[in-house]
Amino acid sequence: MTRLEVRDVTVRFGGVTAVNEATIAADAGHVTALIGPNGAGKTTLFNVITGLQKPTAGRVFLDGHDITHTPTHRRARHGIARTFQRLEAFGSLTVEENIRVAADAIRSKNAKPAQVTRELIRRIGLERYAGVRADAVPTGVARLVELARALAIDPALLLLDEPSSGLSQAETAAFGELLRDLAAQGRAVLIVEHDMPLIMRVSDRIHVLDRGVLIASGTPGEVQADPAVRKAYLGEDEPPSDPNPTMAMPAVVEMDEETFVATYAGTHAAPPTRVAEPAAETETETESEPEPESEAESEAVPESEEPPPSPDGAGPRSGGWF
Ligand SMILES: Nc1ncnc2c1ncn2[C@@H]1O[C@H](COP(=O)(O)OP(=O)(O)OP(=O)(O)O)[C@@H](O)[C@H]1O
Ligand SMILES: [Mg+2]
Repeated sequence: MTRLEVRDVTVRFGGVTAVNEATIAADAGHVTALIGPNGAGKTTLFNVITGLQKPTAGRVFLDGHDITHTPTHRRARHGIARTFQRLEAFGSLTVEENIRVAADAIRSKNAKPAQVTRELIRRIGLERYAGVRADAVPTGVARLVELARALAIDPALLLLDEPSSGLSQAETAAFGELLRDLAAQGRAVLIVEHDMPLIMRVSDRIHVLDRGVLIASGTPGEVQADPAVRKAYLGEDEPPSDPNPTMAMPAVVEMDEETFVATYAGTHAAPPTRVAEPAAETETETESEPEPESEAESEAVPESEEPPPSPDGAGPRSGGWF
């Protein structure tokens, strides 16, 4: 069932066309990926879906209902939740409090916010960080906090903007399993991610944006074999005779339950960077009074740890993407 449909959406910032007549969909029960080089328009499209950015043209539908002009907080109540590329955790609150804020926000749906919070902490493996301030946990853990906070509203559509950056290899493997699990529960999961092995492993369908234009949509196998995609990522004019030398579909992830539990039970390695955003400047879309302009602006600022987009919106064209 089509849960999300983005139809012919265009977003212009002055002279820059960030998204150009893009049409994508995300189905319930599926993991759908949105990929593309830096500056392709992925985060901008997420902002349009969540209502933080008004499209210049085009429409957004949730379960067939036109939500193009629905305010952000009402979209959250209709079951859209997201995580941010630039972390938006409340730095001065603990991990547990960050999740509880979201669970409380939809108290009518969550009969027991405290219980929902505890279960999410256990499920995502955040027990050892529950009482730690969000600005004192490793970046990868903070991303999991954002994921838990998004899940606290029991979303029907979950949007994840580069959720695996900061996670170790083992954590990323477990994270892939979690994504499949979330989709198996009937949610539509739409993920923006640069980790191509992860994307190829977990996605049912992939949309590829390049400089704001949708250049391909299909299964992982179809997308990897698509000449336009290869050209966008690798600068290739023709597909190589070997059908897939560098983009072979990874085997289905093999992870036993013990490894999965161990990974999500608090064995997170601490990467060097830490969450820096002060609480006063952060806000979730579950809040009742969102500030679309400032949120959209903040998402446009490249993270210090990310390579900045080039002025023309084109990204790197190296084989490293795959
Ligand atoms: N608020 C804004 N004002 C002006 N230009 C913007 C704004 N937000 C995004 N852009 C531009 O729109 C284009 C698309 O940016 P966007 O952040 O959506 O790309 P992205 O695909 O998410 O890239 P990345 O992979 O680096 O996160 C870029 O050229 C960017 O500089
Ligand atoms: Mg982005």
